[in-house]
Amino acid sequence: MALLTKAIRGTQDLLPAESYKQQYVEGVMLDAAKRFGFREIRTPVFEHTELFQRSVGDTTDVVQKEMYTFTDKGDRSITLRPEGTAGAVRAFLEHGLHNEPLPVKVCYFTSCYRYEKPQAGRLREFHQFGVECLGAAEPEADAEVIALAKDVFDTLEVKGLKLFINSIGCPQCRAKYQEALREYFESHREELCETCQERLRRNPMRILDCKSPVCSEIASKAPVVLDYICDDCRDHFEKVKKYLEAMNIEYEIDPTIVRGLDYYTRTVFEFVSQDIGAQGTVCGGGRYDGLVEELGGPHIPSLGFAMGIERLMLLLKSQQTPMPEDERCDIFIAAADDEAKLCAVKLASDIRGDGLTALYDVTGRSIKAQMKYANKLNARYTVVIGSREIENGEAALKDMDTGESITVKLDTFGEDFMGISVQQAVKGLGDGIEFADGFDLNSLFTGGNK
Ligand code: HAM
Repeated sequence: MALLTKAIRGTQDLLPAESYKQQYVEGVMLDAAKRFGFREIRTPVFEHTELFQRSVGDTTDVVQKEMYTFTDKGDRSITLRPEGTAGAVRAFLEHGLHNEPLPVKVCYFTSCYRYEKPQAGRLREFHQFGVECLGAAEPEADAEVIALAKDVFDTLEVKGLKLFINSIGCPQCRAKYQEALREYFESHREELCETCQERLRRNPMRILDCKSPVCSEIASKAPVVLDYICDDCRDHFEKVKKYLEAMNIEYEIDPTIVRGLDYYTRTVFEFVSQDIGAQGTVCGGGRYDGLVEELGGPHIPSLGFAMGIERLMLLLKSQQTPMPEDERCDIFIAAADDEAKLCAVKLASDIRGDGLTALYDVTGRSIKAQMKYANKLNARYTVVIGSREIENGEAALKDMDTGESITVKLDTFGEDFMGISVQQAVKGLGDGIEFADGFDLNSLFTGGNK
């Protein structure tokens, strides 16, 4: 039975008590993306396995150990996306977006799947907010993308996040670096784990992000890529730094950042927090000037980042970041009998049509229990309808915060009066809108000023 009521290890549910907070955070992200000119893209949750092998790189931990790969009924090798960049670039090429004026700037919210050891901030199904700026070679683009991530964190009032940047050069300077790395790791060959011994042959840079303690100890003393980059890459990096400084974005250069995915070139960066334990990287990204070509397209230098939504939510929680209140139920309509229920259903329908949240009981509760439930829902207003109200055509609209009541006419409840909709009237009551002298607010509901 436990199998039926327990989610799979490394996955988590987002319950209503938390989901509204995440909606707010996602709203902040989308708003920032819009202000920076990024528009949403949605791509499938699974892709051909080869796409990730080619882009993320088949010597990376992600491809070698962490992908959820299966053979479908048509005998194809399919993989649940471990990240969002590959799918976005695939869609960019498939739909010919590279023929549009560049850059094409897209953003996305995706679920991602990696078979990693679950711990705080590390899940097997997690979510990312990411952006990709496709077709922008200049350092202004690097600064812009970093500034967008920073904008999100600033709007959310995240504290203590540090931005680390590095340049890992282009394929030309990389060759020299790979050589230096190979020489260094060769002298430690016997101590390296089996996977890293294979990496030493195929891609020694990947040894730098091996999670085994012995390999990472050896890797910590390895040559750093920043010492090997060519003049063009250095010039690009210097300009990125200048632009960041011009925007007052503080950064630290961390020459050990190489990122765990193969497609990166030149600028790489991470936003890291000390407040959420070992998995403190809330956002990571960088340039991938060769990826579009690697996937069969033209040479289109590009870059982007992704932030882990669960990690960010953990961080906001640990910092007790103020969040907006959950939306309230505007009106709860309590009904005493069948005739009143009919009236409640109709009223709710009118009120919802006017853009407000209107609820009524659907479980056959007594009036007393309905009112208790309305309290629990934190309803702003309640109306109780029974045979007397129906007979008089009027009911009392109670402001649950102040305890005050006003009389409302049932037959015109949901209609506009004097050009002011019920929505505005009710919001007006709550927000203390001032009406013209001599205007009787009650008349809005009784139809007196009609
Ligand atoms: P990434 O560094 O692999 O980069 O992931 C980006 C972010 O996703 C991480 O900084 C972290 O916040 C979150 N994340 C990664 N793995 C997990 C996990 N197992 N559980 C929870 N959160 C996780 C990418 O995915 C690149 N596609 C980013 C990018 C876009 N680069 C250029 N464009």
